[in-house]
Amino acid sequence: EKGGYEHFMLKEIYEQPSVIKDTYRGRLHANEGIIQMSGVEDNLEKFLNAERIIIVACGTSWHAGLVAEYIFEEFTRIPVEVEYASEFRYRNPIIGSKDVVIAISQSGETADTMAAIKLAKEKGAFVYGVCNVVGSSISRETHAGSHTHAGPEIGVASTKAFTTQITVLTMMALRLAKAKGTLSNTDFHRYLQELEIIPEKVKEALETNAKAKEIAAVFKDSHNCLYLGRGYNFPVALEGALKLKEISYIHAEGYPAAEMKHGPIALIDEHMPVVIIAPKQGHYDKIVSNIQEIKSRSGIIIAVVTKGDTQVRELADYVIEIPETSDALSPLITTIPLQLLSYHIAVMRGCNVDQPRNLAKSVTVE
Ligand code: M6R
Repeated sequence: EKGGYEHFMLKEIYEQPSVIKDTYRGRLHANEGIIQMSGVEDNLEKFLNAERIIIVACGTSWHAGLVAEYIFEEFTRIPVEVEYASEFRYRNPIIGSKDVVIAISQSGETADTMAAIKLAKEKGAFVYGVCNVVGSSISRETHAGSHTHAGPEIGVASTKAFTTQITVLTMMALRLAKAKGTLSNTDFHRYLQELEIIPEKVKEALETNAKAKEIAAVFKDSHNCLYLGRGYNFPVALEGALKLKEISYIHAEGYPAAEMKHGPIALIDEHMPVVIIAPKQGHYDKIVSNIQEIKSRSGIIIAVVTKGDTQVRELADYVIEIPETSDALSPLITTIPLQLLSYHIAVMRGCNVDQPRNLAKSVTVE
């Protein structure tokens, strides 16, 4: 059942190229320049008239929501807010019929997300679900939705659910951008082509496994770890930190790299590993100066960089190379080595990778 892998988590990490493809199959037609998602098509007016999109989710699904915020705002120019479902539901949120709520949930059973959906519906919002489990409570409760096709995710640490959620949300943003005319034709077609070859690049990113294992061996006994990223890769930093803490029990925090100087930089010394997501696209120069700030305080840098990078390589202590993609699609690639790094650290520490202590696969209690 684990398909020859030692743990479900590793199997699920390796399934990502194929499940991303399963998720866009029949929806993304790059050569024709078409994105077809029945849930979006049937409700196009609601999306186009939306004054605001509010995304509600928990945990890793909330991180996918944060990535979507960047993508939706850039592609569609619709303002997006991302809320922890648990905060949204308890604070009498301002929401009404001009709002579209997108609820993201792998299991489709998360209690807080479910309650947020019910509240949004009561207040007249249109609620769209992005769930993995067909027939789940959340897919039934939402007005419409698009499933991710990740297949069953058994490992408590979410991996393939995250990348397939981003795949669905990216396609939605592209479809809406097309309808709104907020992306140039050239960009629209370029993103379609690029999304189509993402599975190949994810496959290539999985080749970082040996390197991730080597780095894991060095840092497996660390007590703390920082993850930094900017823009599209800020949520990836949060996700990298969550993955490490939940399966290896090492304290980790994710931050937008520029926030360092507002506090966390005080933590930096020669015992602090700092994982920096620094692909060539995006805010590269800014990230380079963040790396310099950390180096000058003796921090240890583990950098995720684009293949062929030289500038960061000179500064970093450890380098993990990933294939190049546009900034907006990069979370689908940069996430991969971080999943592998956490996995190997947890295994080396003798942790129960698939069923970490105190955690359940679906959180059906409030
Ligand atoms: O099933 P859901 O996507 O609604 O679950 C949300 C979180 O409970 C989940 O992502 C959790 O944070 C994972 N353990 C993260 O790996």
